[in-house]
Amino acid sequence: MLSNLFDGLSMKKILVTGGAGYIGSHTCKALSKAGMEPIVFDNLVLGHQWAVKWGGLEVGDLLDRDRIVDVAKKVRPEGVIHFAGHSCVGESVSDPAKYWRNNVAGTINLLDALVYINSPPVVFSSSCTVYGITNVDLISENVAVEPINPYGETKRAVEIMLKDYEVAADLRHIVLRYFNAAGSDADAEIGESHNPETHLIPLAIASAAGDMKALKIFGTDYSTADGTCVRDYIHVTDLADAHVRALNYLLDGGDSNLFNLGAGVGYSVREVVDAVGRIVGSPVPTEPSVRRPGDPTRLVADTGHAREILHWKPVNSDLDNIVATAWRWYQMRKQVLSWPGLGADKLDVS
Ligand code: UD1
Repeated sequence: MLSNLFDGLSMKKILVTGGAGYIGSHTCKALSKAGMEPIVFDNLVLGHQWAVKWGGLEVGDLLDRDRIVDVAKKVRPEGVIHFAGHSCVGESVSDPAKYWRNNVAGTINLLDALVYINSPPVVFSSSCTVYGITNVDLISENVAVEPINPYGETKRAVEIMLKDYEVAADLRHIVLRYFNAAGSDADAEIGESHNPETHLIPLAIASAAGDMKALKIFGTDYSTADGTCVRDYIHVTDLADAHVRALNYLLDGGDSNLFNLGAGVGYSVREVVDAVGRIVGSPVPTEPSVRRPGDPTRLVADTGHAREILHWKPVNSDLDNIVATAWRWYQMRKQVLSWPGLGADKLDVS
């Protein structure tokens, strides 16, 4: 018992902003499995209280500077993983202020709070969207960054800010540029739960399950084998593992760095739709639609850098496994959260 108490006392505290969200909650589970104590800071606007299961929750908004300073001083984390932010490309075009305010101004408050507590290292969730439209087959970290929407611009801005804070305040950091996060926890304890949902896989599942009308295929005239966009789908559990590795790398004294996180394999929208039909056991009704503004034709990661430096390799990101875990969570969520049905948490698929 004494040794349990000692273990508890010696656990590394990690502050996880946005830890009640999709990738954040999977990362908290991975941190806990790795023997660390995740402490979530989340305003619960996009995140869910039920997804905080592996450590404490501090409800707060990064725009409330005093609150994040208080939490940082109280928790005194040894490391920080920063997920909190908005990530819908379309919304960022119609409401850029929301993105600059939450993603950039909120991050300034966070980084200032961390400077007050001697700059613990930070892992930051960025996105492949910073690359904009590129003709490169496999995108490495050296490809030029040229975002084509405000969401991507805010991610780029924070990447730059982190470099400046490092010069001024020794804030070491790792930037992780995710490709398309997908799938759910193998135990179906947590999973993807956006409201409204905009992502391909959960929408295709809802369609196949008869909970939604035909899935719109945004663009069938792209210069790809079947005319639909190609993306690199990376299992959220593999992403979570990469965060733990990135954090440990920094905690071991590693220098700031930047990594693309994808499976390194591209699938077209039609290939994903076929996989969903196969796994759910009923075809996805689809309807060709116009291109969605801002969608690049193809985005697939060169994952060599993360493999070499973090010794990370995706092991759950086979497309069928991604869809199978997403489907399992979809069914579980329906039971656990009474969806579709009453409640604020219902999926908006209209
Ligand atoms: C986007 C961002 C990514 C960000 C993610 C978070 C880009 C290039 N990518 O991913 O950086 O982290 O959002 O939200 O900005 N599709 C349909 N019908 C649908 C929904 C999607 O055909 O109803 C297609 C899209 O056109 C796209 C693919 O499916 O080609 C994947 O779309 P989605 O799941 O929304 O992710 P991205 O837009 O690729």
